Amino acid sequence: MSDTMRSVAGASNRQQGDHPSGDNRFDLVDKHLKRGRYAQDQLIETLHVAQDVFGFLSEDILVYVARALKLPPSMVYGVATFYELFTFDPPGDHSCTVCTGTACFVKGADEIVASVSNTYNVPAGKTAEDNSLTLKTARCLGSCSLAPVVVFDGDVLSHQTSESTVSLVGAALGGDA
Ligand code: FES
Repeated sequence: MSDTMRSVAGASNRQQGDHPSGDNRFDLVDKHLKRGRYAQDQLIETLHVAQDVFGFLSEDILVYVARALKLPPSMVYGVATFYELFTFDPPGDHSCTVCTGTACFVKGADEIVASVSNTYNVPAGKTAEDNSLTLKTARCLGSCSLAPVVVFDGDVLSHQTSESTVSLVGAALGGDA
C-alpha cells in the first residue's frame, strides 16, 4: 500500500500543505471529496479535479480516489479510460496549472495564462516542444479565497499575479539551464 493510499482517512482535519503523502495537491482533492460527502456518484467530477490538480491521472491517483469513494480500483480505472477527457501522460519537466474558475478569472487568471504562454512560448493546455514546461488551466480548485490560484510543480500558490508566476516559472526553467 502506498503512502497516498494510507492517507485517505482523516484527511479533513489537516491544514493545507500538511498532507501525510507529502504532496499537498492531495489536499485539494480531499477538499472536493469532503464537499461531495464522499458520494460515489462524484467519481467523474473527482477525477476531473484530480486531473486539474496533478495534470494527469497516475495509477496512484486512481487508487487514491477509488479508496476514498469506496469503489473498486478496476471500476475507477474503467471509467477514467472510457472518457477521452482524461489523460494518463505525465506533464513536462515543470508543470504550471492556472485555475480559471470564476473567482480566479475575475482576479486576472486569464492574464496569468497569457503571460506564461507568451513568455515561454507554450500554448495553454500543451507541453513545450523541449518538454520543459506544461501549461494547463483548471476549473475551480476549491480554494477561491486564495484566488488567483496557481499549482506549480506540486505547490499550491495563492494570490498570484502575471509577474509572480512568470518569475517563478523563469526561475525554475533557468535553474535547469
Ligand atoms: S475559482 Fe480558482 S480556486 Fe475557485
